[in-house]
Amino acid sequence: MLARVQSAFILGIEAFPLVVEVDIAGGKNETEVVGLADTAVKESRERITTALRNSGFTFPRGRVVVNLAPADVRKEGSYLDLPIAMGVLLAGSLVLTKLDISKVMIAGELALDGSIRHVPGTLAMAILARKTGVKILIVPQCNAEEAGLVHDVDVIPVSTLNDAVNYLLNPQKFMPYKTDYTERFLKDSPSIPDFEDVKGQAHVKRALTISAAGGHNVLMIGPPGTGKTMLASRLPGILPEMSFEEALETTQIYSVVSRRGQSNGLVRTRPFRSPHHTTSTVAMVGGGVSFQPGEVSLAHNGVLFLDELPEFSRATLEVLRQPLEEGFVHIRRANYAVTLPSRFIMVSAMNPCPCGCRTDPKKSCRCSPGEIQRYLNKVSGPLLDRIDLHIEVPALSFEDLSREGTVGPNSTMIRNHVQEARGRQANRFGRTTLLNAHLDSKQLKRFCKLSESAKKLLLVAIEKLGLSARAYDKVLKVARTIADLDNSDSVLDSHIAEAVQYRSVDFRSI
Ligand SMILES: Nc1ncnc2c1ncn2[C@@H]1O[C@H](COP(=O)(O)OP(=O)(O)OP(=O)(O)O)[C@@H](O)[C@H]1O
Ligand SMILES: [Mg+2]
Repeated sequence: MLARVQSAFILGIEAFPLVVEVDIAGGKNETEVVGLADTAVKESRERITTALRNSGFTFPRGRVVVNLAPADVRKEGSYLDLPIAMGVLLAGSLVLTKLDISKVMIAGELALDGSIRHVPGTLAMAILARKTGVKILIVPQCNAEEAGLVHDVDVIPVSTLNDAVNYLLNPQKFMPYKTDYTERFLKDSPSIPDFEDVKGQAHVKRALTISAAGGHNVLMIGPPGTGKTMLASRLPGILPEMSFEEALETTQIYSVVSRRGQSNGLVRTRPFRSPHHTTSTVAMVGGGVSFQPGEVSLAHNGVLFLDELPEFSRATLEVLRQPLEEGFVHIRRANYAVTLPSRFIMVSAMNPCPCGCRTDPKKSCRCSPGEIQRYLNKVSGPLLDRIDLHIEVPALSFEDLSREGTVGPNSTMIRNHVQEARGRQANRFGRTTLLNAHLDSKQLKRFCKLSESAKKLLLVAIEKLGLSARAYDKVLKVARTIADLDNSDSVLDSHIAEAVQYRSVDFRSI
């Protein structure tokens, strides 16, 4: 007999329909899996046979052919164990169900004792089920929180093969799982370190406030131990909470890379990714033989922190250009082409020279001019051009260091200020996801009109600093954000003057 079970495969962060066809005919006892299955899928044969036996079923006799359609897409991983096992039971008439099986999607890995293990990508599968009119989605118990975020689909969590069989026999005895995201969404976020712990560096805090308000990228340059890493790690604490749509997008990305025990439903804190400088280009943008999202997508809606910027390989930094400019990455390989969102704030930090002391007035630098040049050259001009705010982080004075108690606003106060500036942008652009940093030249012309005196001021600065056309746009965008923080509709001279400062660090000659 022939049975057809619906499942899905993941490409990038999206799920696509997959049908498991199982045919059992007379003849020699053998099982064959066809349809571009990788080793993990082929091995499922052994797992399924043992799991069925240990769950009280006898594997059907005869020739069992399992076809995975569409046949031209490579199937990877063990998430097809459960749909194949259910197909075998249905085709062998070991389970008879009144359910319309074409409206049931199934995913799950089997253990030898018949228990069901976590699989990645179940949120994407639930979204696909909703889109294709599949009413029921059977997933492992530990994936329930994540898949249950899609309320229009009946998510049935199962812990064992027998649970899944029982559901097909008596569906009315099972309650679909719906994740209560309203309650979860309002829960307090985990503690992020506070800006009030950072002594001095008021101008860096100001620049990070501008960055959070308008979504601008930042580069901090300064000697060791001046608080660069400390300041960057506090940025997520002043960013506004994610909207539900943003949280869902981020969860979908984390869902496909999730491992067993990590599936926790909605991701609601903004990601803070801090890849090591030895990170490869593939790990940075995504890719690999079987596609995995890279750091730029894992940082989507959050912060990508590149500490010790010149230590990253030039190739790894250059691949950041497209996601920085466009907010997504497009990757094409021989066997797939995927597009993933990657809209993040890039915060980077570096020393002014290999020994780090070149700008420290109390220490002497041991680097030769050649060493300094080689070090600085690792960060290319085009990449620097894409960073809106360049800030020097100087060594702290004794007075600042020895000051007791808190100085300046704490993260909650800064976040409220940021939130107000974002509110102004949302009113202007008609949506919350567009920020000043993302404006194209046409939008910039429309939304960022300058008075004659501000224009003149900007022209003088551009000429003096020899800035590129892109840098000119960046200054305008930063000035627009400063005006928003200032609660001002128009961009004034003072806003331009402050914005120009963030481009005037000629770090090659500090
Ligand atoms: N402004 C500051 N206020 C309070 N503590 C600070 C400050 N700057 C540095 N520190 C202390 O120094 C430690 C090191 O700071 P941090 O790692 O941020 O320096 P860094 O600038 O990133 O140095 P490097 O260039 O070596 O990476 C911090 O953990 C903190 O204890
Ligand atoms: Mg550091």
